Formats: sequence, C-alpha cells, structure tokens
Amino acid sequence: MIYNFEDLKEIVKSKVSIKRFNHIMAVVDMSIKLAKIYNADIEKCKIAALLHDICKEMNKEEMKKICKNNFSEDLTDEDLENDEILHPFVGAYWVEKNLKIEDIEILNAIKNHTLGNKNMTLVEKIVYIADAVEITRNYPGVEEIRNLVFKDLNEGILFEAGKKEKYLESIGKKSHKNSYAMQKSIREEIKKKN
Ligand SMILES: [Fe+2]
Ligand SMILES: [Fe+2]
Repeated sequence: MIYNFEDLKEIVKSKVSIKRFNHIMAVVDMSIKLAKIYNADIEKCKIAALLHDICKEMNKEEMKKICKNNFSEDLTDEDLENDEILHPFVGAYWVEKNLKIEDIEILNAIKNHTLGNKNMTLVEKIVYIADAVEITRNYPGVEEIRNLVFKDLNEGILFEAGKKEKYLESIGKKSHKNSYAMQKSIREEIKKKN
C-alpha cells in the first residue's frame, strides 16, 4: 500500500482536538493488537483506524449535505440530525475525495465503524470493535466486552451490539438498521462455521 502512516497522522492531528487524537491513536493500537490476534492485514487496519474519526468535528450542516447527497440509501431523515451517525459516512467520503484513499476495505471500515453493516470483512470488524473497546474507554461493562473480543471477535461484536441495543431500548430508541444487518450477518457466519 502506498499510504504513508506518518503523513496521514499529521493530517488527522490538524483536524481534531487533542482528546480526540488520543482516542484515535488508542484505536490504532487496539486495531494492531486485534489484527495480530486474528491474522488481519495490519497496514489496512492501521490506516482505517487512523482515519476513522477524521471528520468527527466537521460542521454539522456540511456533514448533513454530504450525507444527503451521497448516502440517502443508508440514512433516514432522523439519522441526518445525528452527527454521531453521520461522521463515519462523511469520513469515508472525505478521505476518498481529499486523501485519494481508494482501498474499498479501508473506506468501508471508516464508513461502518459506528453502525456496522452486513458482510463486514475482518478489517471492518476490527476497526468497528477497536473503536468501542480501545484502552481509554471506561463505560460500564467495557472490560467484559474487551476480554471477549480478544477470545472471539464475532462473539465480542455481537455482545457489544446487544449491549448497545439494550441501552438504546432503555431510552426508548431502536438500533439502526445497519446494526441489525451486521448482527444478522455475523450470526449467519457463525452458523456456517459450526
Ligand atoms: Fe467515530
Ligand atoms: Fe472513534
């Protein structure tokens, strides 16, 4: 791959707060660790993790505009009001346009890092879950998810998504359709293996 990690790191650093940058580097570390455990492409995991939150601090109206024009299949009008949901899509779009990142697996890993999606590759799964369990995360239950992720990636992701779903239910909300699609496709994958 031709992407230079150190050059990209400087670009990311210039676009986010120091707190966010520290989180991003913790996701990079966790992604490398998981890539080693699960024999994934370490370089791809590193680059995708480094870029995953690059647009998190972008102006909300700009994010909405990009998503409306490019991701209307994935996002409802309600989604368009939620920057937590928008920033992964915007990130994938932005790095393709501005950093000339063409690797589809890296782009999808950025795009799906919050909601997940069906048929995720190993790289996509690693970035998705590394974001949730990187070492500075300290929400209740994170330790349990992290330990499971080290033992079984698919089960760890299902456990994390299930916990998120329960939390959303407790505040009267539902998981996004892409998250359900991810869980369904991972369950099918597990079934096929057994
Ligand atoms: Fe994010
Ligand atoms: Fe993140």
